[in-house]
Amino acid sequence: MSIPNSQHQYQLVRQAKGFSLQLREGAPIRQPGPREVLVRVRATSLNRRDVSILKGFYPVGNRDTLVPLSDGAGEVAAVGPGTTRFKVGDRVAAIFFQGWLAGRPTAQTGASALGGAIDGMLAQYVTLSEEGLVPVPEHLSFEDAACLPCAAVTAWHGLVSRGRMQAGDTVLLEGTGGVSIFGLQIAAAAGAKPVITSSSDAKLERARALGAVATINYRTTPEWSKAVLAATGGVGAHHTLEVGGAGTLPQALAAVAPGGNVALIGGLSGFGGDIPAGSLVGRNASVTGIFVGSRADFEALNAFLAKHAIRPVIDRAFPFEQAEQAYAYMDTGSHFGKVVIRL
Ligand SMILES: NC(=O)c1ccc[n+]([C@@H]2O[C@H](COP(=O)([O-])OP(=O)(O)OC[C@H]3O[C@@H](n4cnc5c(N)ncnc54)[C@H](OP(=O)(O)O)[C@@H]3O)[C@@H](O)[C@H]2O)c1
Repeated sequence: MSIPNSQHQYQLVRQAKGFSLQLREGAPIRQPGPREVLVRVRATSLNRRDVSILKGFYPVGNRDTLVPLSDGAGEVAAVGPGTTRFKVGDRVAAIFFQGWLAGRPTAQTGASALGGAIDGMLAQYVTLSEEGLVPVPEHLSFEDAACLPCAAVTAWHGLVSRGRMQAGDTVLLEGTGGVSIFGLQIAAAAGAKPVITSSSDAKLERARALGAVATINYRTTPEWSKAVLAATGGVGAHHTLEVGGAGTLPQALAAVAPGGNVALIGGLSGFGGDIPAGSLVGRNASVTGIFVGSRADFEALNAFLAKHAIRPVIDRAFPFEQAEQAYAYMDTGSHFGKVVIRL
């Protein structure tokens, strides 16, 4: 593979409020050092976090410029001395926290987040440690693989590595964005019973086709926790991927089953909300903070996706030149599943 001297790369450039997205031509390509890998990026995907960073709602420290997006996949273009995990031509995806390989996170984990604390994937080439990459499962395209590092690993971590989901459990998903649709696919493949909410009946119909056993329109049924209880014979949800934040947390907690777990993940309606301690104690229920996951989570997820031949649900893929349109589309919230930018 011949490697050019320079590349096209998007940068977020700080403005009075938030950032502007700018295409930079002639950006340098850093040759891989010891145990580093140069990746020719072939696809990236957007998460809600990326829109929030652009608007200045998500902290990225004092950085004035950064390369956005945590999620990307591509092929190995060159390897540095001593590299053993990958060779030229291998298909790879980046891990969200470059420094979190397995076990518990540390105080330093947050400082290794791609597309935030450190430069991300919206570029033709990136240079990363060989430890910060995983192989792409054979059944997935680059676009598929680019959907996984944040949303799918988060859903996996919340449901499986921390939640210990079992076949037969009821799993509650809020809305039909990236994290929730991965949660639905993982739960259905594991033999659990997914229940999902949405503002759109058309999206709920698509969710049924993916294995949802009950669907609830949270616009027409504002007290949707009662509908969750009704759909589960009064038991409630054993697992909830809580992505809605302050506007959904009280209902998620009201619908938790005895022994259940609510994985605190997102703040689509803003973070916040009270934890009803007495009621959780009475139900032996837990609330768990989840911040993406480790490389080990990503590898376990990939093995599961391969075993069950699961492919991500891609709503729309934009060309690299239309990255700005991809951000604007993501911001509308009209997507179902993931929004991709391909290179
Ligand atoms: N902690 C972590 O590690 C982590 C990882 C990934 C994401 N997150 C957070 O999790 C949230 C979801 O992320 P994402 O990337 O999956 O977002 P996304 O793809 O943009 O999902 C947006 C969808 O969520 C639904 N939604 C919006 N407001 C809602 C509300 N008030 N109640 C219920 N559903 C609502 C809508 O679905 P319908 O159109 O179907 O109504 C909307 O289309 C974000 O807050 C994100 O920052 C956290």
